[in-house]
Amino acid sequence: MSTSTKTLCPYCGVGCGLEVMPNPSDSANACPPKVKGDRSHPSSQGYVCVKGATVAESLDRDRLLYPMGRDRLDQPWQRLSWDAALDRLVDRLQQVITTAGPDAVCMYGSGQFQTEDYYVAQKLLRGCLGTNNFDSNSRLCMSSAVVGYQRSLGSDGPPCCYEDLELTDCAMWIGSNAAECHPIVFNRFLRYRKQNPQVKMIVIDPRRTPTAEAADLHLAITPGTDIDLLNSIAYLLWSWGAIDRPFINAHTHNFAAFEALIQSYTPAKVAPRCGLTVEAIEQAARYWADSQRVLSLWSMGVNQSQEGTAKVQTIINLHLLTGQIGKPGAGPFSLTGQPNAMGGREAGGLAKLLPGYRSVTHERDRAEVEQFWQVPAGRIPAHPGRTAWEIITGLETGDVQFLWIAATNPAVSLPDLERVKAALARSPFTVYQDAYYPTETTAYAHLLLPAAQWGEKTGTMTNSERMVTLAQAFRSPPGEARADWEIFAEVGRRLGFAEQFRFTTPADVYREFVQLTRDRVCDMSGISHERLQQGPLQWPCPAEEAQGTGDGESTAKRLYLDHRFATADGRALFAPYHSRGLAEPPDPAYPWVLTTGRLYGHWHTQTRTGRIAKITKMHPHPFLEIHPRDAEKLGITAADWVEVRSRRGIARLPVKLTPAIARGTVFMPMHWGTLWAEQAEANALTHPQACPYSFEPEVKACAVDLRPLRPATPIAERPPSPV
Ligand code: SF4
Ligand code: MOS
Repeated sequence: MSTSTKTLCPYCGVGCGLEVMPNPSDSANACPPKVKGDRSHPSSQGYVCVKGATVAESLDRDRLLYPMGRDRLDQPWQRLSWDAALDRLVDRLQQVITTAGPDAVCMYGSGQFQTEDYYVAQKLLRGCLGTNNFDSNSRLCMSSAVVGYQRSLGSDGPPCCYEDLELTDCAMWIGSNAAECHPIVFNRFLRYRKQNPQVKMIVIDPRRTPTAEAADLHLAITPGTDIDLLNSIAYLLWSWGAIDRPFINAHTHNFAAFEALIQSYTPAKVAPRCGLTVEAIEQAARYWADSQRVLSLWSMGVNQSQEGTAKVQTIINLHLLTGQIGKPGAGPFSLTGQPNAMGGREAGGLAKLLPGYRSVTHERDRAEVEQFWQVPAGRIPAHPGRTAWEIITGLETGDVQFLWIAATNPAVSLPDLERVKAALARSPFTVYQDAYYPTETTAYAHLLLPAAQWGEKTGTMTNSERMVTLAQAFRSPPGEARADWEIFAEVGRRLGFAEQFRFTTPADVYREFVQLTRDRVCDMSGISHERLQQGPLQWPCPAEEAQGTGDGESTAKRLYLDHRFATADGRALFAPYHSRGLAEPPDPAYPWVLTTGRLYGHWHTQTRTGRIAKITKMHPHPFLEIHPRDAEKLGITAADWVEVRSRRGIARLPVKLTPAIARGTVFMPMHWGTLWAEQAEANALTHPQACPYSFEPEVKACAVDLRPLRPATPIAERPPSPV
């Protein structure tokens, strides 16, 4: 490698462009390459956060180098050739399909996949095996946003772009600690607001996060009361006449029902429920009323809820009420968690989806995809596949007999973790395909397949603003690791689907995939690897656009500029919801609300970031945040540890006293699995109650009890991490 390679950060959905250069001091290729922000990338303009800046350091730490197998979980691993490993996999797959049918087979994939990986997996599972049992970890992340967009606007697809942050008069951040979790997009807004101090910023979050610190108005709501608050803002706007009647009349349905619903949301009624003052709610509504352009930004704090879809639709209601959608600087804007969760949605990577924002429940969608794949009509089942949690319950009942996990770590990230681990331990056959060894999930696998990762394979990813970037390879995979899509395609060929898996390069895969997006909301038929060599492209980007211009521009930065939504008649839908509150509210036995979240430096379950010294130094150990007055009540001091107990599990960790958390609520980061700390798993405590539409579990809140632990174990004496 002598010149620099342009690629994309493989962590969060901001999707910052990176430039990777060989390390000059490195003649033997032993040092990690140098990484800097790509100044020409339109989404990030050269900025990166600590995660992007240090990513290369994780490339050669604890990699899984060869396939390995074992018959039982208590046996030692044996190295296998790829040939033997794939024989084992295919034999087992055929045996399970013959004896139990294709629905006994499941794949659990990941927003870390490139779009090419996602697409080939869909073709294999849905098109060839004949099961819709493909779900991804996006189920825990953005599935409520997907379903909310679908139900309100007629299709998935965030309508806004990052430039809107620099065109808005008021940005409302709800359930999003963007300062730590989407730092580069957040800083872009802060820079703009510094130059334009009249621009308003509202933050809705039970914690006074670094995001909330920056706000004009921080509404520290009681967890679970988002819908009450938003309906009350709607009520005020309505009562002041600050709504857009011509827009409502011309472009929406169901306003009357919404208008009737909000009448019971006077601030006087809502304020005590939300733990806010009437004045604070009025101030938020005043900012909306006084702004020409309002942008709402949200992430997991909204989505990870038993009423996640309702929350998303309630946010969208406010935009429909005020006509704040389909124009620059305005609109509902979900900030995606993972680098390519967006690409996953485009490629059909959730249990109910098909490529090109299609649905398995629509006959025409299935027929179009079956014809395109040249598989028999009726091959794709009409019922949605198993969601992440239904895979777990399927293991419990014995209905799931073949589980293939790739690029994700469910033994840390799923809720009700003891139950999950017991279910995983019962799996008759689990294939685990990952770049790293060990992860917490390794312990539950019968077959390990080494995956190439970032920098070792070329493919595309789509970020939160629909920007597609080519992530190019700059090194070869270590050992025998192979790209995920190549593994899926090889299995397809071994199963006899030679015709369907002829791809030899990721560009072939992408060329085929984009044809399935033609004339869809997510039209990428004008995008190709060749064209992306010149720079990222935003969709929609239909094929005609590609003719000759080659200037790196695509059709639209924003969706719905004509106010024609993706519904049958082009009108968006008001969705009136009352709040159902928390699935597990506090009670005398478990009187505290535990909320979970992320820290600036770490990514998810630390599979990469736990192996980077700069980051582990930044966040050396897990902790529980509690308000000093609450701590005092419990007799907990700053030096103490605390035992946190829910109906499902237990965690023991040091306390961090901080007035930044609302009283009655405590906070724990979700990054620590058993590989990195003892008994510090947030998900040992959480429950799997989920939204009835998106099936996204409420991992943001559960009821816990707290008790001081003494004498405190000094942190330095904690067991060292195993790697
Ligand atoms: Fe990577 Fe997200 Fe940080 Fe950008 S903001 S460098 S995409 S982790
Ligand atoms: Mo999440 S859909 O994996 O951003």
